[in-house]
Amino acid sequence: MAVYLMQLKMRNIERNNNDLYKVLKSLQSNGCVFQYFEDSDFNGRTIEVQGKELLHFASCSYLGLEKHPALINGSIDAVKKYGTQTPSSRAMVSSPLYKELEGYMEQIFPGHTIITQTVTLAHCAVLPLLIHAEDAIILDAYAHNSIRMASDLCKANGTFVVVAKHNDMSHVKYLKYRLKKEGKRNIWYCADGIYSIHGDLCDVTNLHKLLDEEDDLYAYVDDAHGTGWCGKNGSGYILGSYGLHDKMIVTESFAKSMVCSGGGVVVPDYLLADVIKMTGQTMIFSGPIQPPVLGSLIECVKLHLSSEVEQFQSEILELIQYFRTNCSILGIPVVTNDDTPIQLIKIGNTEATFELLSTLVKSGYFTMTATYPAIAKGEDGIRVTLTRHISKQDIDGFLGVIKQFIAVNNIIVNTEPT
Ligand SMILES: Cc1ncc(COP(=O)(O)O)c(C=O)c1O
Repeated sequence: MAVYLMQLKMRNIERNNNDLYKVLKSLQSNGCVFQYFEDSDFNGRTIEVQGKELLHFASCSYLGLEKHPALINGSIDAVKKYGTQTPSSRAMVSSPLYKELEGYMEQIFPGHTIITQTVTLAHCAVLPLLIHAEDAIILDAYAHNSIRMASDLCKANGTFVVVAKHNDMSHVKYLKYRLKKEGKRNIWYCADGIYSIHGDLCDVTNLHKLLDEEDDLYAYVDDAHGTGWCGKNGSGYILGSYGLHDKMIVTESFAKSMVCSGGGVVVPDYLLADVIKMTGQTMIFSGPIQPPVLGSLIECVKLHLSSEVEQFQSEILELIQYFRTNCSILGIPVVTNDDTPIQLIKIGNTEATFELLSTLVKSGYFTMTATYPAIAKGEDGIRVTLTRHISKQDIDGFLGVIKQFIAVNNIIVNTEPT
């Protein structure tokens, strides 16, 4: 009775007048989003959705390690020893698995690493702690939603937040001057290492230059999609290629290419790391990573410290290059020039993008769309992720369907973003 009364009250809340919800509901009924796979034994390459076997072009398991025996055994050993969870705040006590993991982190990342439960919680621990009311945030126009959410926490504390043109360091410089003129103290540029929708790379060469030149400018970079599949020992795009600038903080993800869970915040200063670890709000008030996940993550990190991972990294890079070369040969419009496992094929029109997605699903391919509000209107497209599970023949078939759709529907797009 009480539940029924509550439901009646909830009806007074506007629930359905939400464009995003309507679009997603329609895509859900077409088998495209919010699906459950039905396989009893997941293999990474294919998934069964609504009774149909589909090739999986929507996974972030870039190196395809989720069934690696060492990771599975690490998880089993850890759960047997330490149980399913350690339900105490890390402010009280952590399992010894954390200590072991922290030791390995120092071998991979150039800096001091704080392990967080998720990347979103990393942002929520770090940004409101280090950025104050007298400071300002310059948010890259395509920065991930999780950084935006954490910036909103800063905004609620009085921090001014402004959006910069995507990956445009001269605009960041201009905004920094404006903000300093207005009396702001420290200016933080927040960006992604590899942008999660377009798959393009942060202009880190010019970012380092700007940090060298400009006093009071700092950078916070989310390299969730760079971790694991690139950089020495999986240290990611930003740290693997350019190292850690002493005015920069980089966040890594262990939930994508590294197929476990959690995040790593890499900072250049030991004291700063200790302050974040001991006083970041989500470090204290959110629970820890579960022992089975820590156990598999330790094995995953050990794997990345071995030479085995270099072979995996070169295999995924070869697939990425194969995909991009064939898009170019077939005249399929890919938005960026970067060799990353996220590739965005621009269609430029929401309806046609959804139609292409349905065609792909009917033809045996599971992938995803990028449409408004995830992307600017008119920039819509198919967001493809590539993993080591996929073969070159799989890519040929997938691109064949897209090529035919583009020809039949006479789709002509300009890949320059508007
Ligand atoms: C760039 C980026 N940052 C952060 C996240 C969120 O990561 P988490 O689930 O660990 O909070 C995602 C998730 O997909 C992402 O793509």
